[in-house]
Amino acid sequence: MKKRFLMSDQTLFRDIDVFEIDYVPELFKYRESQLDDLAYQIRPALRGGRALSAICRGLPGTGKTTSVLRVFAELEQTTTKIMPVYVDCQNDRTRHAVFSRIYSALIGHAPARTGVSLRSVIDAIGGALQQEDRSLIVCLDDANLLHYNDVLGDVINSLIRLHQDYPGARVSVFAIVSDMGLDLASELSPWVTSPFRPSDIYFPPYDAEEIQGILQDRIRIGLYPGVFPKAVLNCVVNQTMESGDVRVGLDLVKRAALNAEHDARTEVIEEDVTTAYAEAKHIHLACMIRNLSADERLLLRNIAEMSRNQREPLISGAVYAKMSIESKASYSAVFKRLRKFDNLRLIDLSRVQSRGRTSEIMLRYESERVMQMCE
Ligand SMILES: Nc1ncnc2c1ncn2[C@@H]1O[C@H](COP(=O)(O)OP(=O)(O)O)[C@@H](O)[C@H]1O
Ligand SMILES: [Mg+2]
Repeated sequence: MKKRFLMSDQTLFRDIDVFEIDYVPELFKYRESQLDDLAYQIRPALRGGRALSAICRGLPGTGKTTSVLRVFAELEQTTTKIMPVYVDCQNDRTRHAVFSRIYSALIGHAPARTGVSLRSVIDAIGGALQQEDRSLIVCLDDANLLHYNDVLGDVINSLIRLHQDYPGARVSVFAIVSDMGLDLASELSPWVTSPFRPSDIYFPPYDAEEIQGILQDRIRIGLYPGVFPKAVLNCVVNQTMESGDVRVGLDLVKRAALNAEHDARTEVIEEDVTTAYAEAKHIHLACMIRNLSADERLLLRNIAEMSRNQREPLISGAVYAKMSIESKASYSAVFKRLRKFDNLRLIDLSRVQSRGRTSEIMLRYESERVMQMCE
């Protein structure tokens, strides 16, 4: 068969937007049980009561944000009894920012930029809820970021106890947590947890078959038929499984197709994926680093700095020695963070049998990049 070439004004993309981070997919499989659980939490609010609260837990790229956004979109279309408010804690990291976000959603405009106390913002929210007789569900996405800033307990507490000052105000909280090392239920004070009483909704990582299904569906609507051969898709699935984050796969598909387009080919080849992977994996890295606490970033930065000039794995004791000079972290705190990095596949952590508690640490990314991103 004669090889066909693209004309300069032709494209392989039917709809490039479906590969963007904030795209909410039409087809959303493999999360039925989590969606059912969320619906169950909401049911009391549909009958005029207060919704139940929940903690959605799972590694990055397991569909937590998408699940909540889909449920919220459905509520907006089908009922006026519930006011769902989505707060992205990547953007809103202080109490004031979170409550301003809720205020804006309820009142229709942001509170004045200066001179408005947190108390008066919360009062306005309570008053509005009483007046409108709607129940409020607040989703705190990446709530672990608020916890690192020591404000999560306070935020949840103010929301859940709002009815004490504003009888009739009904509020519940869905907290999304992507830090699997963080056990919120035991970290928050009983003062917060006793009225909060969240259900636990777990989002397991997708397996290779599910990743493939998700990417296949997206390719079908985003690219023209025949552009992405099955064998090349398998190669993307394998790369994606290395980080376990679907986002890496979606980004790889897009970049690989752009590469093919750039070379005026009508079909993506494996080499396009390899080239794309070198870039795509850094997106994943940046995203994970943004989600770390300041202490974790310091640790990761030190690991990167120490690995820069050596080819053998680092020894955990050496990392701890450096950390203990710069911060007051205990050995077990450092070790807990190392295990978290291992879970996130930022590092490879392996026990060295002969030396008891000692472990070897291999950074999975280029040390220079990691250092830059940790700044
Ligand atoms: N089951 C699924 N079907 C289709 N797309 C999905 C599915 N799960 C996740 N995605 C896509 O993967 C990306 C990451 O999902 P997201 O909900 O942001 O994960 P999380 O919030 O757990 O990090 C999004 O672009 C989303 O559209
Ligand atoms: Mg998310």
